[in-house]
Amino acid sequence: MKMHLPLWRWSLRSPAAKAIMVMVLFLIFFHIFRLREFRNLSLNKIPSVDSSTSAPKHPIDQLIYEHRLRYEELVKRQSRSPEEAIANYKIRYRRNPPTGFADWVQYALQQNSTIIDDFDTIEKVLAPFRQLGPKRLKSRIESARRTGSRLQTVSIKNGTSSVEGSPMLNSLKHLLTKLPDMTFLLNELDEPRVIGSDSDKDDIIFRDYGRKPSWEQLTASCKKTDSGGLKIRRSKDSDPPNEDQGDKTSLEVQQDQEPRFLESTSQSLDLCLNPSYQDQYGMFTSPCTFLATEGLVPIFSVARVSTMRDILIPGHDYHDASFLSNDDLDPLNFTSKDNKLYWRGSNTGTYASSQMKWETNHRARFLLKVQNINKTDLFDVGMTAYIQCDWTVCEAMREAFGLPPRAGKGDSYKYKFVMDMDGNGYSGRFYRLLRSNSVVFKQTLVEQWHDDRVFPWVHYVPVTIGLDEIEHLVKYFSSGGQGARQAEEIAAESTSWMKAALRPVDMTIYEYRLLLEYASLFDSGDTS
Ligand SMILES: *[C@@H]1O[C@H](CO)[C@@H](O)[C@H](O)[C@H]1NC(C)=O
Ligand SMILES: *[C@@H]1O[C@H](CO)[C@@H](O)[C@H](O)[C@H]1NC(C)=O
Ligand SMILES: *[C@@H]1O[C@H](CO)[C@@H](O)[C@H](O)[C@H]1NC(C)=O
Ligand SMILES: *[C@@H]1O[C@H](CO)[C@@H](O)[C@H](O)[C@H]1NC(C)=O
Repeated sequence: MKMHLPLWRWSLRSPAAKAIMVMVLFLIFFHIFRLREFRNLSLNKIPSVDSSTSAPKHPIDQLIYEHRLRYEELVKRQSRSPEEAIANYKIRYRRNPPTGFADWVQYALQQNSTIIDDFDTIEKVLAPFRQLGPKRLKSRIESARRTGSRLQTVSIKNGTSSVEGSPMLNSLKHLLTKLPDMTFLLNELDEPRVIGSDSDKDDIIFRDYGRKPSWEQLTASCKKTDSGGLKIRRSKDSDPPNEDQGDKTSLEVQQDQEPRFLESTSQSLDLCLNPSYQDQYGMFTSPCTFLATEGLVPIFSVARVSTMRDILIPGHDYHDASFLSNDDLDPLNFTSKDNKLYWRGSNTGTYASSQMKWETNHRARFLLKVQNINKTDLFDVGMTAYIQCDWTVCEAMREAFGLPPRAGKGDSYKYKFVMDMDGNGYSGRFYRLLRSNSVVFKQTLVEQWHDDRVFPWVHYVPVTIGLDEIEHLVKYFSSGGQGARQAEEIAAESTSWMKAALRPVDMTIYEYRLLLEYASLFDSGDTS
């Protein structure tokens, strides 16, 4: 500083220097101003070009894009020969495939199965039983047979079955000679039976958890996970999409401006990640019937919630020809349909006693939500029967919702958007709605056999249990433009996917593979 002092003094004294200083300052200011002006101009120009190419997509757009990508990858990567399938199996599951697997692949290929390798649902539902070993498995099955009701014991021996007439066994009739000998328990009820939180006990005892809250029992196993205690919903760690940073910013934007859309079914189905479900779903607040065991025993059931240990087989309704007969095809094309979300049904899902809040039934919550939105140009919904309720409660609900006439099966075809919700268990209408030329809006908490192959945002529009986004969703898909085009695509994609991957024979293929895997649990000296 000291060194410059004389120069500074000189500049203040000399008029010439003063003039130079003023000029320099003027030039500097002028230059800065010009630069700013130029930047403003360019900001006005370039971004408008920029925004059309790299602006964040609408979150729904992004979700459709990501799930479509995963779906297309799934279809593309399937094996084309038994050798390839065996190699892929070993990589995926790090063990040899079960006895009879090569024949299974042959059969699946002959039947043009779209899926050959991706049967992770089977892997997931059998995993808890792999540690038990054949002896304990057999003794627990025996114990459940003695103490459980509404269970059918099926023995397959030398190519014949001890039981006939169940939808699953009918669909496997011609394949029994391909199956090893085995015994399994078939659940006759639609509701799941195995809570499985007490995996050490060999005596299997069934309790009646009906007509009272069941959340505590159903989430007991969450507390045993590594993290200790219920995990928090916001953690987005478990699923492949939305992991890179680019997504994070678009998600933050989405949280500020829009309700949260369902991003991943593996997260939305997970009870441990979603403590808010406790009073939002019939099965947790007051299931109508619920005969289940806390013991760990293999039982074949058509649906379950994430914490339960039932082994999943296809829903009986999906096998039932009357649910999907050809007299029942949708005669209308998408464009000619009414631009609304439609739902009719009864209040199943709970037993609504006067001791409970009927508003916690998920179907009632949906109607209340739609009433609250109060937009008849977007919704056409109604409760057409009140059952499973104490008289006073039935009356209270009827007062709240009225009683429109019962709907015919085909009535939903008149609408572009059809809501599908769980009842006491899974929704038997799902496949009929997927096959129709409408878009299915699906809200569910149950896991099913098809979870590997039916994709949210590709085959249906997923709806959260909380329903916060429902109005936004209907608006997005019903307001023309991009959303309407996407809706038409989803309607068409689900219809063709029904014919490609959800045929009756696709369920047979699943059951066949499941039984090979199940039988291998009883192999002694197993190598896993
Ligand atoms: C499988 O696809 C081939 C070729 O499209 C067809 O000829 C055959 O009939 C199909 N088989 C079955 C069982 O659908
Ligand atoms: C198994 O079934 C075959 C015919 O399907 C029969 O010839 C054979 O005797 C049976 N074996 C036993 C042990 O029952
Ligand atoms: C849809 O159906 C309507 C009424 O039947 C018809 O006028 C229209 O041409 C059809 N649109 C397409 C794309 O097939
Ligand atoms: C619903 O909206 C209509 C007008 O659009 C209004 O007259 C009616 O009071 C509203 N109902 C409720 C329950 O808010």
